[in-house]
Amino acid sequence: MKGYVILISVVAALGGLLFGFDTAVISGTINFIQPYFGLSEAGLGWTVSSLLFGCIAGVFLAGKAGDHYGRKKVLMVAALLFFISAVGSASAHSLVFFLVARILGGLAVGVASILSPMYIAELAPAKYRGTLVSLNQLAIVIGILVAFFSNYLLVDTGVNNWRWMLLVMAAPAVLLFFSLFLVPESPRWLVARGRNDDALNVLVKTSGKEFAAAELKEIEETLKNQEESTFSDLLAPKIKPLLFIGIILAVFQQITGINTIMYYAPKIFANVGQSNDSALFQTILIGGTNLIFTLVAMVLIDRLGRKLLIIIGSTGMMLMLAGLSALYFTNQTSGVLVLVFILGYIAFFAASLGPALWVVAAELFPNRLRSKGMSIAIVSLWIACTVVTIVFPVMLEKLSGGITFLIFALICLANLLYVLKYVPETKGKTLEELEKQFAK
Ligand code: BGC
Repeated sequence: MKGYVILISVVAALGGLLFGFDTAVISGTINFIQPYFGLSEAGLGWTVSSLLFGCIAGVFLAGKAGDHYGRKKVLMVAALLFFISAVGSASAHSLVFFLVARILGGLAVGVASILSPMYIAELAPAKYRGTLVSLNQLAIVIGILVAFFSNYLLVDTGVNNWRWMLLVMAAPAVLLFFSLFLVPESPRWLVARGRNDDALNVLVKTSGKEFAAAELKEIEETLKNQEESTFSDLLAPKIKPLLFIGIILAVFQQITGINTIMYYAPKIFANVGQSNDSALFQTILIGGTNLIFTLVAMVLIDRLGRKLLIIIGSTGMMLMLAGLSALYFTNQTSGVLVLVFILGYIAFFAASLGPALWVVAAELFPNRLRSKGMSIAIVSLWIACTVVTIVFPVMLEKLSGGITFLIFALICLANLLYVLKYVPETKGKTLEELEKQFAK
């Protein structure tokens, strides 16, 4: 049973891996596609963020199509889209073609960002759900690291290097597509389609014979309630504050600047005068740090709690960004300290806001409103991500690194103050206990 559940989670987490890969792979290509397509800084911002517009649409699509056709089938479509996007963007000779291919990839990322964790949550036995859903964030981070690593390996392959970098994604896309044949449809979705016998079969395999019938009953109960919920229920007086917390935290996860590093690190390193080779090597250090500190977060998150973790994390992020800004102001950007501050910043993010946002977003809402509340929060995340991605290259050019990173440091401070005042601690309680606590 355990092996089966782990297989299911790993297959679904492949969606997270592609999410991470596809969003981060662009960083290694920017110093080559910018001259190839003749892009200004503003044009580069739009090109890098094109994928993110797809993500926003993908989240909405995933919710609707996932309910109609099933989580598994829609994840399969996402796998195909990842494949088409990889081949399309790698073979693009015009900017428009490139943008369309990236937007299709974005649709797939948006779908995976909602359906992978949802599918795992719906198939995992309650006892392991937290850990198994965290696997998805781990997969995102591994995807980012794989992208950085393969970019580094491919940088010396000539003028078409950026094409190879983008094409790599076709491999995990094929793997995701075929491995989805090995896993069952979500029992929760099967029940919603009236296929209770099929659902029971799946539950027997994931939770064991003795628990399957009881679980089936529970699913029937939750679904009964879920069907009655609408988006406007999120505006009920008891729920609205939770919705705000979800949205604001998701926005802070992005506007504290994580993806200025994840998507633009080589640009920052080039900006301080380093070669492409060493810049791409440094992104591997960034991806590795991100991975290690995500594991640290997975150990700490149930012990210290989400809130304390975010408080420590945003304080650290703020100090690191302030340090980075100071290096620019004092013209000391040529040394190793730039890398030290960037790695420190990544470590604090990965150990806190990175995974904690996804955990809190999944915990805040009552059972019957979870998917609706979460999808609003995650759409806000992608919108914030898009805005930061568009404006960052322009900020770096027009305001200089000193002011740019100072602004992000101040946003970390705002995040810290917000979390201290408004975000509740959710560790150690069952979702139902939280539901009661928030309803008071
Ligand atoms: C964020 C992504 C980010 C990644 C970095 C995720 O939690 O949502 O935007 O690229 O962490 O590890």
